[in-house]
Order: sequence, then structure tokens, then C-alpha cells
Amino acid sequence: MFATAFVLCALLATAVSARAATTTPPFEVTRAKIHAVKGCNTTFEFTVYDPDPLTKAMAMCSYTWETGSSAYPQNEYAPCGNTSFAWNMASYTDLDSFVLGIEHVFTDPAIGAYPYDQVTNFGKGNVSMPDSLWCTSMGAQASCEQHVNVTVKAPIYATIAKRR
Ligand SMILES: *[C@@H]1O[C@H](CO)[C@@H](O)[C@H](O)[C@H]1NC(C)=O
Ligand SMILES: *[C@@H]1O[C@H](CO)[C@@H](O)[C@H](O)[C@H]1NC(C)=O
Ligand SMILES: *[C@@H]1O[C@H](CO)[C@@H](O)[C@H](O)[C@H]1NC(C)=O
Ligand SMILES: *[C@@H]1O[C@H](CO)[C@@H](O)[C@H](O)[C@H]1NC(C)=O
Repeated sequence: MFATAFVLCALLATAVSARAATTTPPFEVTRAKIHAVKGCNTTFEFTVYDPDPLTKAMAMCSYTWETGSSAYPQNEYAPCGNTSFAWNMASYTDLDSFVLGIEHVFTDPAIGAYPYDQVTNFGKGNVSMPDSLWCTSMGAQASCEQHVNVTVKAPIYATIAKRR
């Protein structure tokens, strides 16, 4: 469903927000946790915050896929707990090194009247050991957890105004 919405959105997006992407604060990723069990599943979760003064929204994102497979969201985005956010693996090397893609849809009255006031921001954040993750493995299990004192910034690289 999100994939379809994204394609429509990309095709129909005509207006680019007047707010330059460079002045938009990056998304903030905290509490990333990834836990893999060989022959079973990998579970993944993180919290994302959009500090943009227009929204200041937060969501928890989580996903489960078969360990060793690449059944995590890649080209399409998977919705987060707060469905105004969605995420994917912009690139995935291993448990201890991946780049998160994050999209967030919110309302910016400055760009138009309802329903033409929807902005979608896209960001990417690099989560890896040792800068932001601490990883351990034992037997058939491996886990990584984000350092509690490190916030991963996911700078906004694209902004589109969504037309419905
Ligand atoms: C979810 O996102 C919307 C839009 O960004 C925001 O208005 C709302 O407060 C958010 N909900 C939570 C629980 O953060
Ligand atoms: C593994 O994840 C799939 C969904 O991705 C789920 O259907 C299955 O029950 C999970 N298996 C275990 C053992 O948790
Ligand atoms: C991500 O961070 C790691 C460690 O800091 C670095 O080696 C790697 O080049 C970075 N990757 C990207 C895509 O920025
Ligand atoms: C975060 O804490 C760890 C140990 O708890 C420390 O090694 C690391 O330098 C800290 N990182 C930052 C950016 O403060």
C-alpha cells in the first residue's frame, strides 16, 4: 500500500516545497536494536523523531524478517507505528552496518490549502559499529544496540509536496 502511495506521489508531485531541504533539520534516530537468530528471524526496531517545528512528531518503527534473507523493506517503505512515518533499508551491509531511509508526511499550511498542504521529507541515516552501535554475538544469536548517548542524524535529502 505504501509502495503504491509512494509511486503515485512521485509521479504526481509537481510542487517542491519553498522550504529548502538544507534548512530542514535532520530526522533523529535513537534506540535502534537488531536481534538475529540463525535459522529463525531477525527483529529490528528504532525510534525516529522529526524535530521540524511544524511537526515535532515521533514514531517507533519495527520489522521482522527471516535471518539471512533480505526480506526487509528495500525499495518500498514500510509504515512505522505512527503511519505518518515509514522506513526502509537504503542499504544494508550487515547487522552492524546499514543505512536507514526514512520518510515523513506532514502538513505545512505555507505551501497550500488543504489537501495540497502535505509535505513529504526523505532522510537517510547511517547506523553502524562502532560509532552508533554496540554488537555482541553468542552461539546462534547476534544483537546490536544503539549507544544510549548517540543520536543518529538522518539529513533530509528530498522534499516533495504531495498532490492527491
Ligand atoms: C504522528 O504524526 C503526526 C503527523 O506528523 C503528528 O501530528 C502526531 O502527533 C504523531 N503522533 C505521535 C504519537 O507522535
Ligand atoms: C518469523 O517472522 C514471520 C513474519 O515475518 C512470522 O510469520 C513467523 O511467525 C516468525 N517466526 C518466529 C519463530 O517468530
Ligand atoms: C557509515 O559509517 C561508517 C562508520 O562511521 C563508515 O565507515 C561508512 O563509510 C558510513 N557509510 C555511509 C554510507 O555513510
Ligand atoms: C557513549 O558512551 C560510550 C560508553 O558508554 C563511550 O565509549 C562513547 O565515547 C560515548 N559516545 C559519545 C559520542 O559520547
